[in-house]
Amino acid sequence: MNNDKLRNTVKKLRHHKYSGVDEIVGIEPKNRYGKISKKFVKENVSLSVDTNSQKEDEEIISSIKTLESLHAYMSEYKKCELHKSANNMVFSDGNPNSKIMLIGEAPGHDEDIQGKPFVGRSGKLLDKMLNAIELSRDKVYIANIIPWRPPNNRRPTDNEINMCLPMIKKHIEIINPSAILLLGSTATYALIKNSEGITKIRGKWVDIEINGKKYPMLPTFHPAFLLRQPAQKKFSWEDLKNLKSRV
Ligand code: URA
Repeated sequence: MNNDKLRNTVKKLRHHKYSGVDEIVGIEPKNRYGKISKKFVKENVSLSVDTNSQKEDEEIISSIKTLESLHAYMSEYKKCELHKSANNMVFSDGNPNSKIMLIGEAPGHDEDIQGKPFVGRSGKLLDKMLNAIELSRDKVYIANIIPWRPPNNRRPTDNEINMCLPMIKKHIEIINPSAILLLGSTATYALIKNSEGITKIRGKWVDIEINGKKYPMLPTFHPAFLLRQPAQKKFSWEDLKNLKSRV
């Protein structure tokens, strides 16, 4: 490539970057908005578009009374695009009769492969944290705000959180725990809608009403954060003792 051509290519790439392009999917341009064949619509669009209105979704969710029906509903829920790139829906782990519920953010790589929450590195730390207060995975119930892994473990968007919120709220209602440990800022923000950061709000119980019942929730640091900032573990230890004494 001569210098002029190179300069021209760099200019074009800069222009793409400036316009928001962050991934190259092919060399030859393709008109993705052109005429779509009826066959394509029949085979793809009708399968992937979920046409329930928000009101219909609310009605279905409010009629759900068991974990099995919630699982079935979530498996069929196609409005949240995250399910498309995920290998598995990560529903929950642990003991559904437990009075302690732990809620994390969203599955990571290992969770997506195994279909279970907190089985990767942060899950190993979570197991140790539970052991420290004489608990274990089979004595608590664990779920996430988002049941599908976001691509590259990115943080879920507000829109994704809002779409999944009725499902985790129903999950809480069915489990009916007497204490909920919120792991990290995403779980905390999703349920408490706090304006202050996790460092300020952690360690303080907040009662959140869901369908007429108040659930005590305790925000704490996420195990993945503790892996990066081990000096903060002392605060999590305080929160774990606080949780244990409450139940
Ligand atoms: N982080 C989470 O918040 N949840 C998981 O299940 C795994 C990692």
